[in-house]
Amino acid sequence: MSRVENDLLDGNRLAASSTFARLVYSDTMPSTQDHALELARSQAGPLPILVVAEEQTAGRGRGANRWWTARGSLAFSLLLDPAAWGLAPQPVPERSLAVGVAIVDALGPRLRDRALGLHWPNDVFAEGRKISGVLVDVLPDGMHVIGVGINVNNSFQGAPAEVQARATSLAELSGRSFDRTEVLLDVLTSIRQSLVESARLPAEFGARFDELCLQRGRQLTLDVGQQRVRGICAGIAPDGGLLLDTARGREKFYSGVLRHGA
Ligand code: BTN
Repeated sequence: MSRVENDLLDGNRLAASSTFARLVYSDTMPSTQDHALELARSQAGPLPILVVAEEQTAGRGRGANRWWTARGSLAFSLLLDPAAWGLAPQPVPERSLAVGVAIVDALGPRLRDRALGLHWPNDVFAEGRKISGVLVDVLPDGMHVIGVGINVNNSFQGAPAEVQARATSLAELSGRSFDRTEVLLDVLTSIRQSLVESARLPAEFGARFDELCLQRGRQLTLDVGQQRVRGICAGIAPDGGLLLDTARGREKFYSGVLRHGA
C-alpha cells in the first residue's frame, strides 16, 4: 500500500484532547522518548506532556533495540506523573502490558476478525506480526515516560530486513488508510482508561494480559542475566509475569530477553 499524501497529524484536533496538558509536535526528531525524558529533567509545568513526531531518526525500543519510524506511522511519548492517574511511582512489570491492552482496545475495532493481542513483555501483534511496541521509562523521581510506536498507514519499503520480516501495519492488514489523528486520540484515551483501571482493580485488569496473550503454547527461550531458560508459554500472570513451563515446573519471570523457539 502506498503512503497517503499529506498524511500529517492535525495539531488543532490533538490540542482539544483532555488526555494531556501540553503538546510538543515536531515533523522530525531523533526520539520522542529522549525528548520527553529531557523535558522531565529540565522543566516544571503542567503534565501530562505529549511529545509526537511525524518521523524519528533514532527511535529506540526495549534494551538495545531500535524502533524504525516511517512517515505514516505513529510515534509518541507521554510524560506523566503516575500519581495523577492513581499509579504507584515505582516501575512495575505490568505497566507496559497495561499500555499494550490499551492499544489492543483502540486498534481492535479497526481490525475486526484479525488476531490481535499481546506478546510479552511489550509488544502488540496482529496476525502474527508486530504492529506496535511500547517502551516505559521511569525516572528516579517516579515520573513516567510512556513511549508508543504504531504502524498505521506506513509501508515497510526501505525498512531494515528484520522489520520487513516481522512487522505489519493497520493499512497493510485492512487494505485502506486511517485517520492517524483519530487513531492517536483513541489510543491516548484508551491508555488513560487502562492505566487508571489497572491501578483501581489490578487483579481484574491483570486477567486481560492472559486473555490477550498470543504466545501461549509456544516454545520460548528467555535470557535472564547469565541464565538461559527454555519453556512452553503458559500465559501471563495478572502481575505481568511471564509463565513458562520449564523442566523444573511452572516458573514466572518479570524480565529478560525473549526469543521464540528453542
Ligand atoms: C519496542 O518495540 O521495543 C518498543 C518500541 C517503542 C517505540 C516508541 S516510538 C515513540 C517512542 N520514541 C522512541 O524512541 N521509542 C518509543
